[in-house]
Amino acid sequence: VWAVTAGWSGGHLHDGHGTSAAGTPVDRLIGPRAEDARRFTLTAKAATVRLPSGQSLDAWSFNGQVPGPVLRVRQGDLVEVTLRNELADQGVTIHWHGYDVPSGEDGVPGVTQDAVRPGGSHTYRFRADDAGTYWYHSHQNSSVAVARGLFGLLVVDSAGASATPPAGDHTVALHTFGGRVTTSLDGAAPTDLLATSSHRPGTPVRLRVVNTDTLPRTVGLAGVPFTVAAVDGGDVPGATELTGRRIRLAAGGRYDLAFTMPDGPVLLSADGRPGLLVDSGGAPATAQPPPASGPLLDITTYGSPAPVPGRADRRITWVLDRTLAMVDGVPKLGYTVNGKAWPHIPTPVVREGETIRITVVNRSGDTHPMHPHGHHVQVLSRNGVPANGLRMDTFDVEPGEVWEVVLVADNPGLWMSHCHDLAHAVQGMEFHLAYE
Ligand code: C2O
Ligand code: CU
Repeated sequence: VWAVTAGWSGGHLHDGHGTSAAGTPVDRLIGPRAEDARRFTLTAKAATVRLPSGQSLDAWSFNGQVPGPVLRVRQGDLVEVTLRNELADQGVTIHWHGYDVPSGEDGVPGVTQDAVRPGGSHTYRFRADDAGTYWYHSHQNSSVAVARGLFGLLVVDSAGASATPPAGDHTVALHTFGGRVTTSLDGAAPTDLLATSSHRPGTPVRLRVVNTDTLPRTVGLAGVPFTVAAVDGGDVPGATELTGRRIRLAAGGRYDLAFTMPDGPVLLSADGRPGLLVDSGGAPATAQPPPASGPLLDITTYGSPAPVPGRADRRITWVLDRTLAMVDGVPKLGYTVNGKAWPHIPTPVVREGETIRITVVNRSGDTHPMHPHGHHVQVLSRNGVPANGLRMDTFDVEPGEVWEVVLVADNPGLWMSHCHDLAHAVQGMEFHLAYE
C-alpha cells in the first residue's frame, strides 16, 4: 500500500516543492509496542545558545539543548522516540543518519512521512540492531534546520558491553555555530574554545567524533598513539596504531578514535584548531601538545581488508557535476547527477537481495559527501587503488575522484540519496533509490 503524502510534504531539503513521492508501506513498521522499549521524547523548540565567546545564537533545539540529547541505547533495544514540534513556523522530522532503519522510520518528509507541523507529533520505532556511533537530525528544510541545531547523537552500545558506558567513552560533535567550529562533549553546550575531559593514565578512552557540518573536517589527535576503531558506526578490522596523523572526516561521517590515556595530555584538533583536551587529571598541567600535523591518512586503505561481495547484479554510475540544469523549475547552475538536478535525476530501481556496484565520478570542483539512506556501502576502490572494503554511509568524493562502492539491497523501501553538503542537495544533488 503506497499512500501519497500531502500537506507538509516534499520539503525534505528544499522548502516548498510539493508532494514528491509516495509513502512507505505501513507494514514495514516495527510491529507491536514492546513493554521494554527505550522511550525518548524530543521536543523541537526555539532556544538561545550562548557560546563562551559571549555570542548568543537563535537556535532550533531538541528539548532546549543544542545539540539535542545524546540518545544512548543497547543493541537489541526497541527504541521509541516521540517527536513533538513546538517551533513557531517550521516543520520537523527526525532522520537517523547512518542507522539503517526500516524505510517508514527514515524521517524524510515527502518520501516516508509528512513533516510534523507546529503543534504536532510523530513517533518513530526501530530495533537497534547495530552497535556504534550515529546521529539524528531534522530532514525538513534540513540545510537550515541542521545548521541551527536540530540534531543530536545516537550511540548504540554493543549487546556485550557493560550496562553503564565506561568512563573514557565520550561523544564529540563538531559543528559550526556563529562561523566557528565548536566542540560539544557528551551533548554539553558547544564551546568554541577547548572542551576538557580528565582521565587517569591507563584508562581506555574512546572519542566518538561526529561531523555535523556540511564541510569536511580534518581531525587530528596528538600526544598519544591511537586507532580509528570505528568508521560510520562499524568497527574497523585490524585497526593499526597511528601517531600524529590527521584524517578527513566527511560531513555527516563519524570516527571512533581509541587510545590508552598516557601520562601527559592528548589534544583533538579540527582543521588545526584545538577542539578537546584530554588530560590525565590532577597532574601538574603539562604543556598542551601542538595539533597533529602528520600526513593525512587515507581511511579507505586503513585496517585489514574486509570481505566484499564479489558479484555485481547491477551497475550504476553517478557523475557528479555542477552544470546548467532545471533547479526548482528554472534553468540555472545546479549540482547535478548524470547531468540532471532533483527531481529530474532518474531513480535507480533495484531488487531486494541484489548487489549494486556504484561508480561515483566527481567532475565538479567541490567535494561531495555522498549519503545513501537506509544502506551502507563498502568501498572497493578509490581512484583505481583497491580499497579495504570499509563500510561507510557518508563518503567524501573529492574533485576529480572516482570511487567504486558496493551496496547490498537489503532494506526495501523508497530512499533518499544525496550529497550531505546540504547546500548542494538544495541545489539539485539528491535523488531516490527505489525497490521494485
Ligand atoms: Cu544526514 Cu538525508 O541525511
Ligand atoms: Cu555536494
